[in-house]
Amino acid sequence: MKQIGVIGAGAMGSGIAQLAAMHGHEVVLYDAYPAAIERAKQQLQGILNRLAEKGKISPQDAVAIFGRLHFATELAAFADSGVVIEAIVEDLDLKKGVLGDLEGIIGEDAIIATNTSSLAVTAIAASLKNPGRCAGMHFFNPAPVMRLVEIVPAVQTRDEVVEELYKLGESWGKTAVRAKDTPGFIVNRVARPFYGEALRILDEGVASAATIDWAVTKYGEFRMGPFTLMDYIGHDVNFTVTETVYHAFYQEPRYKPSFSQKALVDAGMLGRKSGRGFYEYGENAEMPEPDRNEHVGKQIFNRILIMLINEAADAVFWRIASPEDIDLAMTQGVNYPKGLLRWANEIGIQNCVARMDALYDEYREDRYRCSPLLRKMANASEQFFQ
Ligand SMILES: NC(=O)c1ccc[n+]([C@@H]2O[C@H](COP(=O)([O-])OP(=O)(O)OC[C@H]3O[C@@H](n4cnc5c(N)ncnc54)[C@H](O)[C@@H]3O)[C@@H](O)[C@H]2O)c1
Repeated sequence: MKQIGVIGAGAMGSGIAQLAAMHGHEVVLYDAYPAAIERAKQQLQGILNRLAEKGKISPQDAVAIFGRLHFATELAAFADSGVVIEAIVEDLDLKKGVLGDLEGIIGEDAIIATNTSSLAVTAIAASLKNPGRCAGMHFFNPAPVMRLVEIVPAVQTRDEVVEELYKLGESWGKTAVRAKDTPGFIVNRVARPFYGEALRILDEGVASAATIDWAVTKYGEFRMGPFTLMDYIGHDVNFTVTETVYHAFYQEPRYKPSFSQKALVDAGMLGRKSGRGFYEYGENAEMPEPDRNEHVGKQIFNRILIMLINEAADAVFWRIASPEDIDLAMTQGVNYPKGLLRWANEIGIQNCVARMDALYDEYREDRYRCSPLLRKMANASEQFFQ
C-alpha cells in the first residue's frame, strides 16, 4: 500500500490525510507553517477520539489511525511517498513553487495530485519537469464525509496516472468521476444556476428568499433551499466561486454574479458564521415566513430546475464529463435529490427546450439560450442514457 503525502494541513489537507490514514495508508502531512501542523495534529486527534466515543471506530483503531499519520514541516519527508496530494492555498505561483521543489525529492514514479478548485490543472502540471505524472483530485469539504471525488486529467497527464487516482479514490470509499480540466470541473459549474437563478428571481422581486427556499425544498425535494445553503457555505466563499467561474469563462452571462450577494459580502454579512446573511441567526432571530402560493412556488422551482438541467446538458455538449458522471457528481457531491439528466428525461427533452425558449423569449438574454444538445436531442426524439 503506497504511502500518501499531503501538502497543506488546512481544512482540506487534514481531511484528506485522515481519509487516507483511515483506509490503511501511512500518511505524511506537511505544512510550511509549524502552527498549522500543530493545529491539524490536535484536530485530527480530537476527531479520532470523537469517532471512537461515538462507536464509529474502535479505540484501538483510533490509536492505529493516528499512528499512521506523520507530521512534517520539511518537504524531504515525502521521499517515500507514492502519491502526493497538494492542498495548499489557492494560489498558482505558490502551488507551482512547492510542487517544483517536491519533484526534486520524490521518486520518478510518484504521482502528484492537486486538490485545486478553480485553477487550471494543466497550468499547475506545466510547472513540473514531468507533467505527465500530475492530475487534479478534487475532494469536497469535509473530505472524509463527502462521497464524491472529481478526477481531472491535465492536458499532459498520462492515462495510467488518471487510472491510478481513480482507483485510489474508489478504494477510499468515494464515488470517483472524471472531468475535463475546465473552470469549476463538474459540480462547481453545473451547480451555478442553483444559486444564480435563485438570486436573479430575488433581484427581479418575484419572491422573497424564504419563498424561493420553500419552493425549491417543497417542489424539488432539495435538502436545503439556495439561500439557506448560501448562508451556510458563506457568501465570501460562494460569491468568490461564482465570480471566478464567471471570469474564467470570459464573462459568460449564465454565471453573472449578483449585486445582492456582493452587497452582503461588502457588508460582512457572510451568513451563519457572521450571524447574518439572507437570514438572521442570533439567539432570538426568527425565520421569515414564505408566501406559500402553489402556483408561484411551482413557477420558481421550475425556472431554477430548467436552468440546472440546461447547464448539465451543456456540460455534456462540451464533453466536460459523461452524462452518467454528471448525474453521479450532482447526486453524490451535492446531494441533489435526482440526477439532472434523468430529471430532463422525466420532464421530456422537448418540454425542456420549450421551457428554455420561453425564458429566452421573455428576456432576450444570452443567459437563457437553450443548450444546442437539448435542441438536437429534442429534434431527434432522443433521451439521455438510451
Ligand atoms: N475549503 C473547501 O471547501 C475546498 C474544497 C475543495 C477544494 N479546495 C481547495 O483545497 C485547497 C486548500 O483549501 P483549504 O480550504 O484547505 O485551505 P486552508 O486555508 O484551510 O489551508 C491551506 C493550508 O496551506 C498552507 N500553506 C500555505 N502556503 C503553503 C506553502 N507554500 N507550502 C505549504 N503549505 C502552505 C497553510 O498554512 C494552510 O494550512 C485549495 O486549493 C482549495 O481551492 C477547498
